[in-house]
Amino acid sequence: MNNDVNTSATGSTGPAPEPMGADIPSTVPTHWYNLNADFPEPVPPALHPGTREPLGPQDLAPLFPMALILQEVSTERYVEIPEAVREIYALWRPSPLVRALRLERALGTKARIYYKYEGVSPAGSHKPNTAVAQAYYNAAEGITRLTTETGAGQWGASLALACSLMGMTCEVWQVRASYDAKPYRRFQMETYGSVCHSSPSELTDAGRAMLAADPDTTGSLGMAISEAVEAAAKDEQAHYALGSVLNHVMLHQSVIGQEVLVQLAEAGERQADVAFGCAGGGSNLAGLTFPLIGRNLREGTTTRVVACEPAACPSITQGEYRYDHGDVAGLTPLLKMHTLGKNFVPPPLHAGGLRYHGMAPMVSHAVELGLMSGQAVGQDEAFAAGVIFARAEGIIPAPESTHAVAGAVEYARSAESDGQVVLIGLSGNGVLDLPAYAAYV
Ligand SMILES: Cc1ncc(COP(=O)(O)O)c(C=O)c1O
Repeated sequence: MNNDVNTSATGSTGPAPEPMGADIPSTVPTHWYNLNADFPEPVPPALHPGTREPLGPQDLAPLFPMALILQEVSTERYVEIPEAVREIYALWRPSPLVRALRLERALGTKARIYYKYEGVSPAGSHKPNTAVAQAYYNAAEGITRLTTETGAGQWGASLALACSLMGMTCEVWQVRASYDAKPYRRFQMETYGSVCHSSPSELTDAGRAMLAADPDTTGSLGMAISEAVEAAAKDEQAHYALGSVLNHVMLHQSVIGQEVLVQLAEAGERQADVAFGCAGGGSNLAGLTFPLIGRNLREGTTTRVVACEPAACPSITQGEYRYDHGDVAGLTPLLKMHTLGKNFVPPPLHAGGLRYHGMAPMVSHAVELGLMSGQAVGQDEAFAAGVIFARAEGIIPAPESTHAVAGAVEYARSAESDGQVVLIGLSGNGVLDLPAYAAYV
């Protein structure tokens, strides 16, 4: 594809995005929910990588717009969603909550299984929930270019979509293992007008150093983040956007769980007894479950939350809980999180979006407080569950999402689940991941 053409097509420097005046259904959430208002103890602060002192807003200003920096440290329970963002959400929100009757029958379970399906977004996953919000706040501050990293490409495609809707340019560093094995989301990014590079690349100091150290590296999200952060820091018109891990990303994703609370009540259910979400950096899991955990804390419901992570990259179940960098080069702030160490390079999994060495500080904190637990799922087990789900319900889950399905399938087959409401976070569809399924079936 000719990136020059695509880039100039979206390279406008328009004013802060105004709402188009569309009718927005009342079922589209009006506010994001912030679990920081309800945590019994505050999340340990992010630290400056040089001084190891808590970060101030100005430390983040070169990379993020002030509105997002303020959301990062906010303890307000509800944050109003701008009208222009709600209008875009209304293109696919509320996303469906579906009773998985055929899956129940296939498993022979007495549990009532529901799945919340984020694959209906234009990009095919939950990631646009935050991509649109982040692009909006950056555009409102006059930023014209966003840089980011991506694993399997779901986040890159989502930010490319959001930038195209907001009239911005977008440059994505994609982990080499996925760049080589999964070209279709790159084509998606390019169709939306973005540029996508294989990471590590020769375009940044960080990338060149990593290639010098290991020319055959398969790459990692930690490496790609270093490149995208460096590129943004060197361009005054550019900011960096992160698709997971940070508090403001967890905030934006909360539309998922808030809708679930309404939709479960409409279905006549008092609560989800157990909720399963897949966990890479933690954002779809947080989006699905933080509103439910908040309700547990405020109203005494008893939803149990299980974070399903890949056995090959098990930050929650095997990592240490300590301060660590979000990237390999050590450019990002120090975050208190479950981590396998910033230099950990996971094997090239099909679920590329789960190949991250750390876990969101808010998710890590929730684990430490006993508000959720972790479960490691092997790749074959995950695909087996994905195939059962596809054959029963029709939707082919994203390889990442199959981890949540596997956790739920195992539980629903146990006697413990009798009569319970089991909730699955189906974070995306796998239609662009069919080669991975082909390798399995
Ligand atoms: C469909 C899908 N689910 C889950 C994830 C994992 O990310 P997170 O843990 O932030 O939701 C990704 C990441 O790219 C993804 O594409």
